[in-house]
Amino acid sequence: MYDELKKLAREHGTPLFIIDHDIIRSNCRIFRENLPSVQIYYAVKANSNQKIIKTVFNEGLSFDVASYNEFMQVYEYIKDFKEKDQDDYVWDKIIFSNTIKDIETLKKIKRYLPLVTYDNIEELKKIKAHCGTAGLILRLKVPDTGSQVEMSSKFGAEPQDAAALIKSAFEMGLNVEGLSFHVGSQCTVNDNYISALAITGEIFNDARKKGYGLKILDIGGGFPVPYDANVPDFGTLARVIDAEFRRIFPEDTELIAEPGRFIVATAAVLVSEIIGKNRREGKIFYHINDGVYHTFSGIVYDHWVPNFTAFKEGKKEICAVVGPTCDSFDKVSLSSHLPGNLDIGDLLYTENIGAYSIASSTRFNGFDGAKIFHKNKISS
Ligand SMILES: Cc1ncc(COP(=O)(O)O)c(C=O)c1O
Repeated sequence: MYDELKKLAREHGTPLFIIDHDIIRSNCRIFRENLPSVQIYYAVKANSNQKIIKTVFNEGLSFDVASYNEFMQVYEYIKDFKEKDQDDYVWDKIIFSNTIKDIETLKKIKRYLPLVTYDNIEELKKIKAHCGTAGLILRLKVPDTGSQVEMSSKFGAEPQDAAALIKSAFEMGLNVEGLSFHVGSQCTVNDNYISALAITGEIFNDARKKGYGLKILDIGGGFPVPYDANVPDFGTLARVIDAEFRRIFPEDTELIAEPGRFIVATAAVLVSEIIGKNRREGKIFYHINDGVYHTFSGIVYDHWVPNFTAFKEGKKEICAVVGPTCDSFDKVSLSSHLPGNLDIGDLLYTENIGAYSIASSTRFNGFDGAKIFHKNKISS
């Protein structure tokens, strides 16, 4: 890998974000093999690069979109379908998983039969007024403690409010198709899924008893990526989910999931370059040409801890790695174990950086961010 990364960096310049589409395809297949009865909706927000969407589309996955723009990125591949096939595709394979949608978005998607989530009564009224064609998924608040990114402080109805929110929807003439949850991103606590299945199972079965025809359980994202050796095995988690789901939910329930990180995190490597070197209070500061306003943006909101490896060997010490902008906040790592003998022009690489990275890169301070190189992309 070393030689290939160096060669690509020489040819294309740095910072260089290398996406391996073989790994994306392999991640899709691993997910499918471990949870064969689940319909997989790729959460586009994790990495909305158009060529990734195409690869995932070709793999036959469905899509979780957070906005109308993300919807249009997927629509690109169905725009030439006949109208009926387009409508079927949107209904069968796209979910608008953002529990809050602005009125403009609702108006624009009304002409399809979109599947949308909600978690409060005001959203329900808005959907009724502007997108009465929608099928609904009620998102529930579930335990997310221990996940890298917690979700339940912003999203999900309290379980005790679920029955009323389902009843209100049906009384408005809307259709609740099912329930959803998100246990938090990079969830390394399998018990969070077990609790979430128990909470939603009770609500689902109660609604069925009352005669509401709920059909779908959406188990969201959160599936952990092996950033380090302590991350639990996905196969074990998949078996736990499958067993609990079968134990709790009626046999005819459709199970869907919205993995983002799992599909793309391991599929990208970033090669960055040292553009400055300084010693501050005894510690070496390597200034590199990418930072928290660019490909390392996930450090801020994804709470991600990046890894760095040098191509050059040398005696290692604790170093700081900082970004190229004039902002002192632009510190990527204050404790990276790197050779102390690196020079300006030397390269570093960072693995497993495919999720929540370029998706939120800015042009702050006029820096463009990383160039993107696609490896093993199948054209067509
Ligand atoms: C509603 C929803 N679904 C799915 C995801 C993807 O989660 P992950 O990347 O942890 O799989 C997110 C992430 O923010 C989300 O908000």
